[in-house]
Amino acid sequence: MSDPQDPAEAAAELERLAAEIARHDRLYHSDDAPEISDADYDALVRRNAALEAQFPHLVREDSPSRQVGAAPEGPLAKVAHALPMLSLDNAFADEEVGDFLGRVRRFLRLGEDEEVALTAEPKIDGLSCSLRYEKGVLVLAATRGDGSVGEDVTPNVRTIADIPRHLGGEAPGIFEIRGEVYMSKADFAALNERQAEAGGKIFANPRNAAAGSLRQKDPAITAARPLRFYAHGWGEASALPADTQLGVMRAIRGWGVPVSEDLERFTDLDGLLAFYRGIEAKRADLPFDIDGIVYKVDRLDWQSRLGQVARAPRWALAHKFPAERAETVLEAIDIQVGRTGKLTPVARLTPVGVGGVTVTNATLHNADEIARLGVRIGDRVLIQRAGDVIPQVLENLTPDAARPAYVFPDHCPECGSEAVREEGEVDIRCTGGLICPAQRVERLRHFVSRHALDIEGLGIVHIENFFRDGLLQSPADIFRLTRDQLLARERWAEVSAANLIAAIDAKRRPSLDRFLFALGIRHVGEVTARDLARRTRSWDNFRAMIEASLEVRRKMQPQEGEEERKFLQRRDKAVVAAIETPNIGPEVANALLDFFEEPHNREVLDDLRAAGVAPQDVVWETKASPVTGKTIVFTGSLETLSRDEAKAQAEKLGAKVAGSVSARTDLIVAGPGAGSKLKKAQELGVEVIDEAAWNALVAEAG
Ligand code: IVH
Repeated sequence: MSDPQDPAEAAAELERLAAEIARHDRLYHSDDAPEISDADYDALVRRNAALEAQFPHLVREDSPSRQVGAAPEGPLAKVAHALPMLSLDNAFADEEVGDFLGRVRRFLRLGEDEEVALTAEPKIDGLSCSLRYEKGVLVLAATRGDGSVGEDVTPNVRTIADIPRHLGGEAPGIFEIRGEVYMSKADFAALNERQAEAGGKIFANPRNAAAGSLRQKDPAITAARPLRFYAHGWGEASALPADTQLGVMRAIRGWGVPVSEDLERFTDLDGLLAFYRGIEAKRADLPFDIDGIVYKVDRLDWQSRLGQVARAPRWALAHKFPAERAETVLEAIDIQVGRTGKLTPVARLTPVGVGGVTVTNATLHNADEIARLGVRIGDRVLIQRAGDVIPQVLENLTPDAARPAYVFPDHCPECGSEAVREEGEVDIRCTGGLICPAQRVERLRHFVSRHALDIEGLGIVHIENFFRDGLLQSPADIFRLTRDQLLARERWAEVSAANLIAAIDAKRRPSLDRFLFALGIRHVGEVTARDLARRTRSWDNFRAMIEASLEVRRKMQPQEGEEERKFLQRRDKAVVAAIETPNIGPEVANALLDFFEEPHNREVLDDLRAAGVAPQDVVWETKASPVTGKTIVFTGSLETLSRDEAKAQAEKLGAKVAGSVSARTDLIVAGPGAGSKLKKAQELGVEVIDEAAWNALVAEAG
């Protein structure tokens, strides 16, 4: 192989290598049908590494060197979790921990002298795993996956010495222990040494090593890897051995499963913060990586009242340790074009180790940030990496006003269209819309991504290649791909083609929230998509709601002499009222309507329907209750509940909570001091109950 001196040649070769190595990875791991010898495979990987060493700024997002520890995709069976595996809200500053305690107290409406006890324990940097014991016997072990569906790793987990196959003592009939599979720092270093000698995969950090070791098709490989386990909670349980977090964790320890030795209980903020500082001080000396402290409300009855928002419980908080930092040189600034046309400057850096991981890229966010930092190519910079977040440039260590400043492009580097900054916005956007190939590819990529339609085996490399060759232009094309089309392409084997077509077919009936998120509407993230799905419950209802809201917006006209600002405010209000979905304000509401007003987007939707894609109706996640589907208004003061808790209870029972009384209100819960809303409800003949009756209703429905 010749050594390209020219960066363009190197870039082209790196692109080819990324695609080729990814293909061999798949053939080897997913299809079990390798086409080349291990030695030939290693030669490709080494060539990739050599080129990257020579041209560090050309390291690709999808480079094989960045997929370190990547576990095989697909081969493990999927299992649905009996109860979702949640994640945690993060806090960085001490004040945020105080805010969290305040929120808990307010939600539960605790009196000032009422004590809130919390447990505190290290947050281990591993991967979470749920262990299901039936009659004390380990019957199933699953990774977290997307929180609802994980991968079955039972045979692998049976090889981990920390995890007993039988629980000792009196464990309940069904008990799922949840915790973290991890690798110690020393075992990680020794494993990498052995891997290097054997010419095997080198892992970037202990977390990746643990994930790569657990998610193996062959449990013999897992058995040879030194994995460990700490329990930090539980999932489904037929009975609980205690009524506090600490009590249950002690019982779990008593059954023979490791629980952090540092687990403690505190009754005030000072105690929690002192614990945090104490563990932070010994962090470097601990035998395993931790990235913060987790606090949990100790009383389980309070945990269940607090419930969860989106994917995180209201009763727990991760207090993260500060991110790790390092100095390096800014070698280049590249501009990436996102799904909505946003131009994001990316810093290409001289590779540097930060907290055990090699960093080569960092985000510079936007043009203002570049100006604030005053960075130019060649500057020394301070960078920071926190967990899985993209590293950031914090500070320019060699500012020099005399050198010319970096000039942010005024044209899209991908399609050449003008790039503009809208009034009041920080971002600069390509105006090319769907003529811009970068935006189209990004939209496709988003459509199939993990939290959207989650089409396994359709990675960015395929999307880019298929797009370039005209096979994929819009999302519906995905559903028209055929096995023959794939087989006609280079590097596609029978098995992988069949697998991809099956993976696509499996996603013709996506859930409504995933589908809405997949559309890539500006400002519509996962949480908003879920709110919309919950409120409208079917794709047809959703479209009808959008059409009606579009009509409202179109009909609104300025009144005579009305200032434009006033008119827009009035129109925003009307649009928000028409969309009538919790947490959706004017910005999101208008973005939704803008999306559906655009003829091209309507064509994409028609096309998807024609290709047989139809989102499923939402089925209630909750049991039907006397208030399912009803609209409730809380008014006056409540004595035992906070407004937030009352609202959460109502939503859990499938009801919608509104702020004002109208003909559509079904029920009023009125406390002392209720005024005009109660009066109006009485006039309209709406049913009115008091707080005690509400509590009784909740108790009965629960
Ligand atoms: S509690 C319902 N405790 O961190 C809350 N999680 O960032 C479930 N983790 O998915 C998590 N150490 O995998 C909890 N002591 C600890 C933990 C811990 C590590 C992981 C866990 C979770 C993730 C959230």
